[in-house]
Amino acid sequence: MTQDEQKRAVAAAAIQYVPVGSIVGVGTGSTANYFIDELAKIKHQIEGAVASSDATAQRLKGHGIEVLDLNDVMDIPVYVDGSDEITEHLHMIKGGGGALTREKIVAAVAQKFICIADQSKLVEVLGNFPLPIEVIPMARSYVAREIVLLGGQPALRQGFKTDNGNVILDIYGMKIMNPVELEAKLNQIAGVVTNGLFAMRSANVLLLGTDSGVKTISI
Ligand code: 5RP
Repeated sequence: MTQDEQKRAVAAAAIQYVPVGSIVGVGTGSTANYFIDELAKIKHQIEGAVASSDATAQRLKGHGIEVLDLNDVMDIPVYVDGSDEITEHLHMIKGGGGALTREKIVAAVAQKFICIADQSKLVEVLGNFPLPIEVIPMARSYVAREIVLLGGQPALRQGFKTDNGNVILDIYGMKIMNPVELEAKLNQIAGVVTNGLFAMRSANVLLLGTDSGVKTISI
């Protein structure tokens, strides 16, 4: 299977985790887009969706799926989203598309996080993919200096603003041996909105696209 076929396959497999009559949390990115297309096929069986980005909201609406404000929603049984890197412990780096903060918020509310990913995303140690940090613009230089002290090499994502009006620093050169600890540490830096480590709230289930089909990994 090509990478794209794997993405389509895991997106289709995620539908079985969507309870009838529920509000579904929906992630951002190319794999999540395939999931939205699958969700459209069962749209009459769900109450609506909460989007993790403006782009996802647009795509959901384009399919005629109602998009709800998270503040009006009490219960999200399942959140489905892709990942930039994921370990067998289901710790992730996310935010390649810059939607990490809203993704983290919707994931925090959801009872279950279903990660959908092609096999290239499975790694032994996180950090080869540059770790995104959403930063309040006035704190950009300060946060960058603090990251250097932690051993990372920050680079400003050029010409990019998040849906929340902030900037992204991508951290290169980190071999992340303890993702839970680093996630907490980075969030302590003044001016950091959040970081792309999803370790404290990891995925519950990984649907991994492989050459031999979809593999399910859960912890
Ligand atoms: C966006 C994300 C995406 O889930 C991540 O970048 C994976 O994207 P894709 O499915 O296109 O590989 O975190 O902020």
